[in-house]
Amino acid sequence: MTDKELLEKAKKAREYAYAPYSKFFVGAAILTKSGKVYTGCNVENSSYGLTVCAERIALFKGVSVGEKEFLKLAVIGPENVPFSPCGACRQVLFEFSPDLTIITLYNNEIRSSSLKELLPEGFSLTHLRL
Ligand code: THU
Repeated sequence: MTDKELLEKAKKAREYAYAPYSKFFVGAAILTKSGKVYTGCNVENSSYGLTVCAERIALFKGVSVGEKEFLKLAVIGPENVPFSPCGACRQVLFEFSPDLTIITLYNNEIRSSSLKELLPEGFSLTHLRL
């Protein structure tokens, strides 16, 4: 699965974004170690704080069917806006795959960064000796 193909899946998922309040439409696609892809879009709510980001929906779809190891996540918002996962999503992604690669698109240019770069010293109970 190339970065471009994964971005295409994120773009397709963005079509389902439910964002009547912010009108900020986001799509995400996450690739598992076993080669499967799960997609997500943001889902807003009249009670704004209940909104869930596209990245977490994609991740939770995978986790909820038994996936625990993820290789890369592509996320796409409005294409003329520099965009990268929010802090909450970075932490949630870190729980499962600290070595995740994050793929974004800006002005037709594919950007790739590591989750560890985006979330230095992320919190993880599973890596602490308690
Ligand atoms: N949003 C995402 O889906 N992912 C992010 O990483 C940041 C924000 C959504 C939430 C809300 O529906 C809209 O974008 C504006 O914040």
